[in-house]
Amino acid sequence: MGYSVEIWEKRSNVRSRPLRRDEISRVAGLAFSPCASPISNHPLLIADTSLREAFLGYMLCQYSHELLHLETSIVQPVCQSLALSPDFNQQQRVTARCLLIDEAYHSLGFNLLIDETKMAFDLDLSILKQPSFLTLVQCQTQQFDQALVYLLACCVLETVICGKMSKLTMDTMVAPRVRQLFSDHVNDESKHGDFFAEIFKDTWFRLTTYEQEGIGSVFPHLLFSLIMPNMQVEHDVLLHLGFDDKTVQRIMQDTYASPPSFHDAAYQSGQKTLRMMQEMEVFSLHAIADAFAEHGMTFI
Ligand SMILES: [Fe+2]
Ligand SMILES: [Fe+2]
Repeated sequence: MGYSVEIWEKRSNVRSRPLRRDEISRVAGLAFSPCASPISNHPLLIADTSLREAFLGYMLCQYSHELLHLETSIVQPVCQSLALSPDFNQQQRVTARCLLIDEAYHSLGFNLLIDETKMAFDLDLSILKQPSFLTLVQCQTQQFDQALVYLLACCVLETVICGKMSKLTMDTMVAPRVRQLFSDHVNDESKHGDFFAEIFKDTWFRLTTYEQEGIGSVFPHLLFSLIMPNMQVEHDVLLHLGFDDKTVQRIMQDTYASPPSFHDAAYQSGQKTLRMMQEMEVFSLHAIADAFAEHGMTFI
């Protein structure tokens, strides 16, 4: 269950590796993987190398900004509460404190990466958007208990987080600094995912059906929010980089008119998440099964 302090001391990045500080620059490689940003493969972007590099710089900053929000606005407060909660056992409370330290360290890494990418590619970061998962979670607290909403969102997001990051680590066109940072992060996050899958199982059965159906119907939105590109940001960045409105519409349509299927990525990246839900028979609730079906995901 979770992992002991001894294992955390040996394996956690904050305890076992120096902070990654290699240079991030145009010559070091791409800031972000084109595989995770289909727009960057549009012929109009391919035709202009420095514009495409800047676009990918923005994508890295938006993605890092989203992960930084996940860590500071959701996982850290949840770990603080878990560490003090009588609903969880001593080992779970101690593990929550280890995770709290991991996430503070990850946030520092993302903070530095965003600052340096901004400098290297001369970006205007006022264009970045609040992640959609945070808006969803904030909305739900108007109807349900805030601590519960944050805890369940954390369980979903922390079990799905590794998929897209792993993709970035495998793309050799991406700058080594970015690949190393995400590789280190995946190393910690795979353990976080195991912990939160267990916390989910210990929590779900305590909820009323009303809470399960209400909070559970946003699970597919949370899952896709960490898998799909943020199309609004892509749209705004293209405008900001000098394309006119009509050309931006064309680029978006060319790329997403026959959209790359994100379902395969959702099944793949969401494996741990979907397994923990299946074990708790989450999909036997029609409201939740219907919400997943609206995203093209069905379960028998
Ligand atoms: Fe993290
Ligand atoms: Fe985490």
